[in-house]
Amino acid sequence: SKEKDADVRVWCDGCYDMVHFGHANSLRQAKALGDKVIVGIHTDEEITKHKGPPVFTEEERVKMVKGIKWVDEVVLGAPYVTTLEVLDQNNCDFCVHGDDITMTAEGVDTYHLVKSANRYKEVKRTAGVSTTDLVGRMLLLTRNHFRQGSAEYDIEKEGSSNMGQDSAAKSPWTGCSQFLPTTQKIIQFSDGKSPNPGDKIVYVAGAFDLFHVGHLDFLEKARKLGDYLIVGLHTDPVVNSYKGSNYPIMNLHERVLSVLACKFVNEVVIGAPYCVTEELLEHFKIDVVCHGRTPIALENGKIDPYAVPKTRAIFELIDSGNEMTTERIVERIISHRLEY
Ligand code: CTP
Ligand code: C5P
Repeated sequence: SKEKDADVRVWCDGCYDMVHFGHANSLRQAKALGDKVIVGIHTDEEITKHKGPPVFTEEERVKMVKGIKWVDEVVLGAPYVTTLEVLDQNNCDFCVHGDDITMTAEGVDTYHLVKSANRYKEVKRTAGVSTTDLVGRMLLLTRNHFRQGSAEYDIEKEGSSNMGQDSAAKSPWTGCSQFLPTTQKIIQFSDGKSPNPGDKIVYVAGAFDLFHVGHLDFLEKARKLGDYLIVGLHTDPVVNSYKGSNYPIMNLHERVLSVLACKFVNEVVIGAPYCVTEELLEHFKIDVVCHGRTPIALENGKIDPYAVPKTRAIFELIDSGNEMTTERIVERIISHRLEY
């Protein structure tokens, strides 16, 4: 039995395959119901048994969940049907899940044991985001390529350069998102802390589309270069102008929440300019600007977006040590040929 003033430990479990801000939002709500959030993640073997192989390996899935700022502990090997033993072993008071029913391959409610023991609480599932929806967007993206008769991952240059100039342009696929962003949601995801006087402020910018383990490793290293990390997110037309095709897969609002859920991030600039300007450096009192291992696209094929921080000698390249990219995720989805 637990002591009276002991922490309330909340158990959450799931596949956490292709982690998105819907998962993060359920963990945020779980945290509000107690003091510590412990996340149990199913192994690749367990998921394969119940619904087919996951897209991401258990190592990747564990890393993604550990990167979410409301998570205190991660346990790999949670059983598909949550047992009272697993709650007790992890010293958890109760289990929290979104208000959707999940079943085993045999059609058993995976939470029936904790429900009948009154050790189950529900949070609201985030509407408008799911792995199924994201996979659908990725498949649309590639099908379109086939229709245009170009090679599978070719960049469709004409459409993309138009997008860069037309402020009304939006990605046709992210435009189908059913998620309704609100200021309330941004406030809930934000830590609301300003930098302390004397803090070394680090700035990075990018697309951060389909937030993944490569981004996570990069942001962890970037954060270590200082005390406060600001992430600039490019708008959808800007991302499209250098990524081409129908990128980004996730729109700016969705990317904002994914990045804000990351424990290494302190602040996000919603729609950062592609070139890091004097004004931006002054405004945020930035001490160091960095970029990861991916190539730096020049603006209009000419201008180095990091020219200003380079002149000031406050630019650094970081090797995230991770080969994951948004494009690789899309490739993986296709090669898995998953039936979602
Ligand atoms: N979850 C949520 N909102 C979403 C998606 C998931 O609140 N839009 C919650 C689930 O209710 C669950 C937790 O995230 O409590 C992890 O569940 P998991 O099995 O990984 O997610 P799925 O329900 O399979 O979600 P998806 O289909 O998006 O992968
Ligand atoms: O490609 P994107 O704009 O989303 O990348 C954001 C930042 O993350 C960039 O600085 C990029 O170099 C870095 N990154 C990395 N390692 C990866 C993927 C991205 O360092 N595997």
